Amino acid sequence: MENETVDTIRKEVDKRRLTLGDGTKLPVLGQGTWHMGEDWPKRDVEIEALRLGVRLGMTLIDTAEMYGEGRSESLIGEALADQRDAIFLVSKAYPSHATREKLIKACDNSLKRLKTDHLDLYLLHWRGGTPLEETVRGMEELKKAGKILRWGVSNFDTKDMQELWSVPGGKNCAVNQVLYHLGSRGIEVDLLPWLRDHQIPIMAYCPLAEAGSLKAKLLKNSTLNQIAEVHEATTLQILLAWAVRHAERDGIIAIPKAAQPEHVLLNAQSAAIRLSSEEIEALDRIFPRPSRKVPLDIV
Ligand SMILES: NC(=O)c1ccc[n+]([C@@H]2O[C@H](COP(=O)([O-])OP(=O)(O)OC[C@H]3O[C@@H](n4cnc5c(N)ncnc54)[C@H](OP(=O)(O)O)[C@@H]3O)[C@@H](O)[C@H]2O)c1
Repeated sequence: MENETVDTIRKEVDKRRLTLGDGTKLPVLGQGTWHMGEDWPKRDVEIEALRLGVRLGMTLIDTAEMYGEGRSESLIGEALADQRDAIFLVSKAYPSHATREKLIKACDNSLKRLKTDHLDLYLLHWRGGTPLEETVRGMEELKKAGKILRWGVSNFDTKDMQELWSVPGGKNCAVNQVLYHLGSRGIEVDLLPWLRDHQIPIMAYCPLAEAGSLKAKLLKNSTLNQIAEVHEATTLQILLAWAVRHAERDGIIAIPKAAQPEHVLLNAQSAAIRLSSEEIEALDRIFPRPSRKVPLDIV
């Protein structure tokens, strides 16, 4: 792709940034990588997709030891080791690795696969049986050793966050990664306000509604399709623009996964889409947030 085109799109992506408590600036659009690296013939294209995303400013890369049992991390290591300083690398540990000792080992293995000496952010993938206090101790130890710069959690509902807050060191949690898209707005009832009050950003996974059966319903919706037409965009681009509509205010980073460079390009281009308040209200009417607390949606 022409450098000039890349620069134009990147300028728009760079306009949408969040600042973490420590001053680190992050794009509100990152790149997910679930299922990438699992299919050898697709490897070159996936590497091209990741590298294009970084050139376009989507420099936050999300992975996990679970994804392809390390194959997503290995792919990222191969694709981006030469650009380590340009990216913000996030990985996650299995709950079965959440004890102090296992966490340190799991992190070392992730670092090896990612061909790096540190993660920018390390998350507990979801809650398991290990007491939070012990996991936090392991995370803090990894931080002291310089193997991770910060840590966070994933799939934590409000009660889990409150419990985390009561644990020594728990308030050092930097992020909660949860499912969020137009068809799944439960977090807006209480989790999102709680996180906003405590200045914890959300990483919104499945922002293109990949999980479950809602994607087909969303794609068929006439209002969404009309809004897409007005913006000369695809319906999925509107979904992405919706997920980050209040990103700077609410502290939201969306991490769409795109293994195809054409999709990466479309996702980066969606940074330029600003939904009007009328469009947001129209979508609110059709896909309202629940009126009361619902359990956290997970994949
Ligand atoms: N913490 C957790 O428990 C958790 C759970 C799920 C996901 N995640 C993270 O969040 C990331 C995103 O979630 P996800 O991968 O489940 O779903 P997603 O980002 O909502 O959707 C991914 C799907 O959308 C397609 N796509 C991407 N951009 C597109 C575009 N512009 N036009 C048309 N199709 C497009 C992708 O196709 P191609 O790949 O073929 O381009 C892929 O099939 C994951 O990859 C992972 O990093 C975290």
